Amino acid sequence: MRHVILIISAVIIGLNAFALPKHSEDYVTYHGYSVIRVIPHTEDQFKLVQKLSESLKYDFDFWKPPSKLNKPVDIFSPPTMTRQLIVHLKKGSLMPVTKIRDFGKRAAEAQMEVSSYKSSDAIDPDSFDFYKYHPFADIMGYIQAVAQKYPSFVSISSIGKSLQNRDTQLLKIGYPSSTAKNALFIDAGIHAREWIAPATALYAINQWVTNSSYTDLLKAIDIYVAPSINPDGYEYSRTKDRNWRKTRSGPRQNCYGVDPNRNFAFKWMVAGSSSNPCSETYAGPSPFSEIEATNLKNFLVPHNDTIKAYLTLHSYGEDILYPWGYATGQYPPDVNDLIALGHEMYNAIKAVHGTEYTVGDSGDALYPASGASDDYSKSIGIKYVYTVELRPGDGDNDDDQWYGFDLPAKFIKPTAEETFPALMAAANRVQNGPF
Ligand code: ARG
Ligand code: ZN
Repeated sequence: MRHVILIISAVIIGLNAFALPKHSEDYVTYHGYSVIRVIPHTEDQFKLVQKLSESLKYDFDFWKPPSKLNKPVDIFSPPTMTRQLIVHLKKGSLMPVTKIRDFGKRAAEAQMEVSSYKSSDAIDPDSFDFYKYHPFADIMGYIQAVAQKYPSFVSISSIGKSLQNRDTQLLKIGYPSSTAKNALFIDAGIHAREWIAPATALYAINQWVTNSSYTDLLKAIDIYVAPSINPDGYEYSRTKDRNWRKTRSGPRQNCYGVDPNRNFAFKWMVAGSSSNPCSETYAGPSPFSEIEATNLKNFLVPHNDTIKAYLTLHSYGEDILYPWGYATGQYPPDVNDLIALGHEMYNAIKAVHGTEYTVGDSGDALYPASGASDDYSKSIGIKYVYTVELRPGDGDNDDDQWYGFDLPAKFIKPTAEETFPALMAAANRVQNGPF
């Protein structure tokens, strides 16, 4: 009997290793895809990588594009190209390191895991599992349940529908007041594959609504949280393509999607943007071609006098980035205020698990990229504006310990725990100024 059970379970385990859930037959497998990291230390090395990132012929997905000397560059490479890529990099005396050997394995695991979560219509905020990557419907279901449970200081509204008709909702946390209140605005998920961002936003909502020590704060300010603002892309990344970043509009030249974070109408197409619909950084046929970017703008613009801080959660890199991001060496006149709060956020994060973020100007510390939601928010007069690139950072050099966009769910807890105090630093600043 024992033997029979052993054999049966071996068969089941064996099958599981190969069979994916039924609905994912057309899942992009990414078999043999890898992530290759190089760190350019000389101008020549840097130029070589930069040329490759701008090459129209190869069009690699640069998970981390070249930013500056001594900063890692991560290249996502199809198996057919990896050999050539490595030879090319070595010729430029770069030392390629394989950070992810088979993304296909990762993608299948992630897909397997999330496809087992059933969308449920009865969500109880008290038993909600924050340490999972939930479907969009459940993210919305959770914030609806929160609004229902705490009607005296939480309400929900829609910022509009996505292209595929998903209603994109926004939670407002804060006690009603007879006078206009200042507000903190947080969004997440503008890039589909950065799953840690919406998860971190939900954790933060739960902290604010369940912990009575925030009552005074919430009497003084409002906190808006839009936890998933590219729902079509997010669902696509969960069910079809773990590496999906963009929206799902199109096709244009047989390719789908626009990078919503290149689609905003400020310095559109000036830098770090592509006019090629197949590129990961395609800026779209025109500014605000994407309904998802338009919806966000339509909320932000009429609130630009009360929203004093705008935080947009992304991954990865462990960075706190302030404007301007459209170029290097360009700063708003109040940049010192932005740097000051940036350092407070840095300290708040570090105090929790010791994680050290980089605080810097978006264009200088990362790479110039225009048409992003941060620069746009700053351009309409919102004072404290940051892109927060969550975990992982580039500190871990152990190949097995590095995940890029595909951060396993077990990291949601530490990431969200350390990020929350940074969000609180911004909230306190909204309460107390200076503006
Ligand atoms: N990783 C983000 C992106 O590529 C960074 C955006 C930073 N902001 C900027 N304006 N460049 O969209
Ligand atoms: Zn992003």
